[in-house]
Formats: sequence, structure tokens, C-alpha cells
Amino acid sequence: MKIRRLLLATASAMTFTLTAAGTHWCTATAQTAAVLSGQVSSAEENLMEGVVVSAKKAGSTITVSVISDAQGNFSFPSGRLEPGSYTLRIRAAGYELDGPKTVDVGPQGAPLAIKLRKAKNVAAQLTSTEWLMSIPGTVEQKNMLDRCTSCHTLERPIKSTYDADAMTGVLQRMASYSPGTTPLEPHKRLDGRSMDVPTDRLRPRAEFIASINLSQQETWAYPLKTLPRLKGRSTHVIITEYDLPRPTAMPHDVILDRSGNAWYSDFGHQFVGKLEPKTGKVTEYPVPVLKAEQPPGNLDIEFDKTGNLWIGLMLQAGIAKFDPKTEQFTMIPLPKDINNNASQQAMVMPSSSEVDGKVWMNSVGIPGVHRLDLASMKFETFVPYKDLARGQDHSVYGIKADSQNNLFFFDFSADLVGKIDAKSGQINLFKTPTPNSNPRRGYMDQQDRLWFTEYRANKLAMLDTRTEKFTEWALPTPFTYPYDVIPDRNGELWTAGMSTDRVVRLDPKTGQTTEYQLPRNTNVRRVFVDNSTTPVTFWAGGNHSAEIVKVEPLD
Ligand code: HEC
Repeated sequence: MKIRRLLLATASAMTFTLTAAGTHWCTATAQTAAVLSGQVSSAEENLMEGVVVSAKKAGSTITVSVISDAQGNFSFPSGRLEPGSYTLRIRAAGYELDGPKTVDVGPQGAPLAIKLRKAKNVAAQLTSTEWLMSIPGTVEQKNMLDRCTSCHTLERPIKSTYDADAMTGVLQRMASYSPGTTPLEPHKRLDGRSMDVPTDRLRPRAEFIASINLSQQETWAYPLKTLPRLKGRSTHVIITEYDLPRPTAMPHDVILDRSGNAWYSDFGHQFVGKLEPKTGKVTEYPVPVLKAEQPPGNLDIEFDKTGNLWIGLMLQAGIAKFDPKTEQFTMIPLPKDINNNASQQAMVMPSSSEVDGKVWMNSVGIPGVHRLDLASMKFETFVPYKDLARGQDHSVYGIKADSQNNLFFFDFSADLVGKIDAKSGQINLFKTPTPNSNPRRGYMDQQDRLWFTEYRANKLAMLDTRTEKFTEWALPTPFTYPYDVIPDRNGELWTAGMSTDRVVRLDPKTGQTTEYQLPRNTNVRRVFVDNSTTPVTFWAGGNHSAEIVKVEPLD
């Protein structure tokens, strides 16, 4: 175990503020209240349930959505819209908006008849989950594509014309990109485990893609399937989208502070930001660059008990502390002897640091974990899989500390949940009941129960860290690929699919689920619940839609 003193670099934050034009939100009074309601129908289905109806005021950065009920009725609750001219959008798989496309909203208004028509290009609408439902192949084959969706949807490979040889080359190129990349802004890795994937491992995947893409045929031989629209309780919801000022922003983690501000990390850029939901005002803080030659972006953000925000600096290698009061960053790079081109701190865990003065972080490139002693600024390194037989990949993805600052970590490449004892440093590995489940990220509750997603198994799970027993719950939609989960104050679990654009609410007592359709292609990662509202409010970032999304269930 290497221990080393490290210099603390303090960088002052430049702050710039972008205020959303014309958004005085949720402040509509009786005089300014505006009404918007009506009915959704199409020639094919007549009155339509489960259609997402979105309204955005001219010049605003905020979009509000409601969902039509069994009679096709939709209604924006009073106080949510102020008078003005609005653009309308809908989401209903297989359909597009015929009209009207804009509406003037005032204190009174006749019910609006929204007409949908069959979409001319359904392929352009499909989510990655719908592509996976449509293509032929076994679940094992389809799961070979589960990592592709982190940078773009499956539309690209499935619309491509590469044969297996050419696709092998494309897959090699994909492995050379860094996380936080999109086709709009490609960034290459300098080094890293995923870069040197041997061709023989890529070949089965390339052959599978070449069998379902357009390399052999002009159009797909299989019908394109869409998920049925969500009905009943799923329609009892209001969804608010807040656009971020930079159209390429990648809000990965979104968490609320005690005043109700939403803080976000940017997966592809050197920013953390703050959204004030009441007004839509966004303030962005440039995160100092530690390694100019490495791709930008950060991932995990966490509050410690004193209200400081901690940030996992990804390939910039290290962590940062941000004081929201002084708006100052304290940069903590990895010390030289453990810092190299593969160093990647996705996660940081300060939440029980008051117990022993230590902050945990993962180290993707090892794969392993570092622990920083805040008094001495010394680092320790833990390498949990070094004694395991070779053959299977292992990784350290999400990390969570219990009340004693013991660390739990998720093996996203296999099916292990690990524990590092804070006092002895001893490491224990627990296998999830479902094999090859790919546990990803989660939440430690006050009873030291560890809630987490099983990304590849399409399940939510809980490890009671005191009894060391696992429980698992299946999600209703196949290939949801849940990234993160959080329990609310009533014990219900909230997650969202990276591929479905759906939020899932699961009652662990009954296993019953309610899904909520998000209005856009979002790619949700971290999930958060605000327990101060009744019912609770769900928050997440649209990692691919440069927006923060708030989901308010009505029951
Ligand atoms: C780390 C980010 C990342 C991941 C993960 C990723 N891609 Fe890509 N992909 C990109 C970028 C960036 C582009 C656009 C630039 C390019 O083509 O190299 C792209 C483009 C593509 C294209 C179009 C290429 C062309 O020449 O038209 C295909 C096909 C593709 N990706 C397939 C895949 C498949 C299959 C996977 C999963 C095995 C995958 N990608 C995973 C970043 C990624």
C-alpha cells in the first residue's frame, strides 16, 4: 500500500451566470394564471391515453409536460403556466404531432384538440430498448450492446452498413473513446483498460451487429417494435424540463441541496452547475483543469455533512471539493506515484468522512479504490481483485460508505459487491444472487441497507449490510438498463432506464411498479428524490439532452 503526501492546490472559481430569459416560473398568481387543457386523438386510435403533451413558452428554457388519460384528456394544473405563446411537443411511440404546433395560453381558453398522425419514420423515434426488442437474437447477444448506449443510441450501429470485418474495426475505434464522449464531441483516451480489447473478443459482437444492421439488406428484415404507451397511474404526473445554457452539456449526476437547488456534474466538460428551480436560473462553475492532455469532464458529486460538494474528476485524475458559500474549488490531484494516464476517479465518497476524517474514491484504471486522509493528505490504495483467478473481468464502479465509513463497491463487470472495512482494511466480496448481474450504482440508507441496480440483470437489489442478505426485484420493461436507484421516505424505490427514457417507481413490499414516460431522449444516470414534497419529487439529468428533469407524481 503506497502512502504519500500531497500538495493541496486551491483554485479560485470564475463564475458566470446565465439567466433563463423570461422564466418567472411557478410564481404565477391568480391574475397571471393560465389554463391549457384539451384532448388528444388520432385517426387510427381515436382518443389516446398515455401521450406526453409538452408546452414551452417562447423564449423560456423550461418545458412542462402532462400525460393524457384514458379519455384522451390532458390538463396543465393551474399555476404551472403563465400567459403567453407556447410551442407544443408530443411523445407517443409511432406517432407525430399533426397540430396545432403552437398555442396562445391565457386566463381562459377553449379546450385544445391535439391531433396526432402516424409517424413517417418510426426508426428515427426508437429508443435503444425498442431497437433491442426489435432485433432478432438471444438476450446474451443483445446484452453485448449494453455498453454502446453510454455515448449514443443503438440507431448508429443498427443503421450502419458495415460487415463483420469492418465492424470489428469500428468497435476498436469505439473502445478508444473516453467516457463523456458523444459523436458531437469525440475525445480519445490516452490509455486505459478498455482500449486494448483483443480482436477475438470483439469479433462475436461485430458478427452479431453485421447480422442485424443494413450490411446485407436495404431495410431491416424484422418489424420495428415500440413499447406500448403507459396508462393508468403512469399518467398522473407533471414533468418539468430545464434546459441548460450549453446545448452540449452532459448533466450526469443531479442532487439537491438543502435549499432546493439542483447541482449537477458535467460528464463531458469542466463544469459543475447549479439550477435554481423556482426561476430556472443556472450558474456554472468552471472546474480547474489538472491534465490539459486528458479528456475533460467529471462524474460523481456528493455532499459531505457540512455542505461541501465533492467531485470525482474522472480522467483529470483526482477529486475536488467545492464550497458553495465561497464558491472556491480545492483541487486534490492524485499524487505522482499513483497518477498515470489510466487514472480515472469516477466516484468520490465523503458522506461518512466525519467518522474518521477519510474520503474514499474509486480508481477505474486499477481497478481499485483510494482513500484520502484529510488530516495528513495521504492516500492509501486498495486492490480488491488481485487474488481472484484470472479469466473474468472485474471493475470498481459505484461506491457507498455506511454509517461507520466502511466502503461498499460495485463490480460493474461481473456480479460482486465488495466491502472494505474502514478500521482493518480487510476486503470481503459478496456475489449477487443473479449471476453476471453487473451491479452499477446505488444508495446507502440510514439503516446501512445498500440499494443498487443490477444493470445487466434488469433488476433492483438490496444488500442488508448487517445481515449480509441480498434481495432482488425485477423491472417491468426488458432492457431498461437501470443505472442508479434511490429509496424515498416511504420506502419506495426510484430508478430510470439509460435506454428506455422511463422512470420506474417500485414498491419493494409488493414488487409493483409504475413507470413514467420522459418527454425526450435523455439517457438518465444518477437519480435523486426530494423527500420534502408530498408526494416526493424525482430528479435526474438528461445526459444526452442537456437538461435537468423533474418528475412530480400526483399520487
Ligand atoms: C465512449 C463513447 C462511445 C461508445 C461507448 C460507443 N461509441 Fe459508437 N460512436 C462514438 C462516437 C464519438 C462516434 C462518432 C465518431 C466515429 O464514428 O468514430 C460513434 C459512432 C458510431 C458508429 C457510426 C460509425 C460510422 O463510421 O458511421 C457506429 C456504427 C457505432 N458508433 C457503433 C458503436 C457500437 C456497436 C458500440 C458498442 C459496442 C459503440 N458504438 C459504443 C462513441 C462511442
